[in-house]
Amino acid sequence: MDKKEDAIDGESELNMSTKKPAVFSGVAPSGSLHIGNYIGAIRHWVEFQDKEDNIFCVVDLHAITTPQDPRKLKEKIYEVAALYLACGINPDKSKIFVQSHNPDHAQLAWILNCVTPIGWMRRMTQFKDKSQKQKEIVSMGLFDYPVLMAADILLYQTNEVPVGEDQKQHVEITRDIARRFNSRFGEAFTIPKAVIDTTGARIMSLQNPLAKMSKSDPNPDGSIFLLDDADAVQHKIRIAVTDSGKEVKASENKPALKNLLTIYSVLGNESVEALEERYQGVGYREFKADLAEVVIEFLRPIQKKYREIWESRGYLDDVLRRGLEMVRPVSHETLARVRELVGLG
Ligand code: TYM
Repeated sequence: MDKKEDAIDGESELNMSTKKPAVFSGVAPSGSLHIGNYIGAIRHWVEFQDKEDNIFCVVDLHAITTPQDPRKLKEKIYEVAALYLACGINPDKSKIFVQSHNPDHAQLAWILNCVTPIGWMRRMTQFKDKSQKQKEIVSMGLFDYPVLMAADILLYQTNEVPVGEDQKQHVEITRDIARRFNSRFGEAFTIPKAVIDTTGARIMSLQNPLAKMSKSDPNPDGSIFLLDDADAVQHKIRIAVTDSGKEVKASENKPALKNLLTIYSVLGNESVEALEERYQGVGYREFKADLAEVVIEFLRPIQKKYREIWESRGYLDDVLRRGLEMVRPVSHETLARVRELVGLG
């Protein structure tokens, strides 16, 4: 990974340890996982597994900050967990669990709410975007989303948070909250940093190359989901928006082609430059047909593994139970210290 680490560190004594860096990240089961989630986040989790001490969470409490169908949510939680495994997260190397199964997250979030200035929260761009799009009444939970995310990260003395570009501001506010708490009450939290790749940190919608690919996009043609079948992939790529002209080039004034080339490059494991050269003088049609094949081939083993895991639900429950057992002592220790520092009984 061509890592773009977001911040200078070493501000906390807890960061000075010689242990493997602690990594925490998660996906909200608020829809189906798409290739943007994979390219921006999950592929890096897989890549870091041996070097780091990883926790990957299914953040279901974040999912309910926007309205969810209760029956579907339950299924999505397990679908996301199974997809972590299918994408290559190895439960012998990484801990996987469901956020709401560990009540420490909600409790720490409450305590952090009480040290977070409301003005910081009002600046969160994702809240502004989501609340504008939402037709129903915007919940307090949606407003408070970044504080819960801070709790997720800080509970585990996390050093690194591998995420896509859209989560950068949330990790920054996590750092601010941690510093504020540490200086007001005493050292409790490691100061984490976002780890964001320079490639693929913001995969765009296939229907609108100026908007990010999003689980909550009402138009399914904008996203390629990890569980899309070959026909759906072919169809979505065939009708994907392109730029004017004929050249297959990743320039700034060709945002649609740049996006398609990024997807091709990452999933097909070939540089953008090599692709530009190969498709010189070749029309969009042929390029898109090849891209569809690359995506289908990339998804095939993930979907196969997913189906195997889905059929052995006992195994998945076991992975999540073991993950929870391993993370609980760490979050418990952090929370106990926080409670002590704050003066809670
Ligand atoms: P979520 O569920 O929206 O997305 C999960 C991960 O996928 C990345 N991502 C993308 N990357 C590239 N292109 C895209 N179009 C794209 N869309 C999404 C996201 O940046 C993210 O890394 N708030 C988080 C979940 C969360 C979390 C945490 C993450 C809750 N607590 C603690 C890290 C640490 C979210 O909603 O991600």
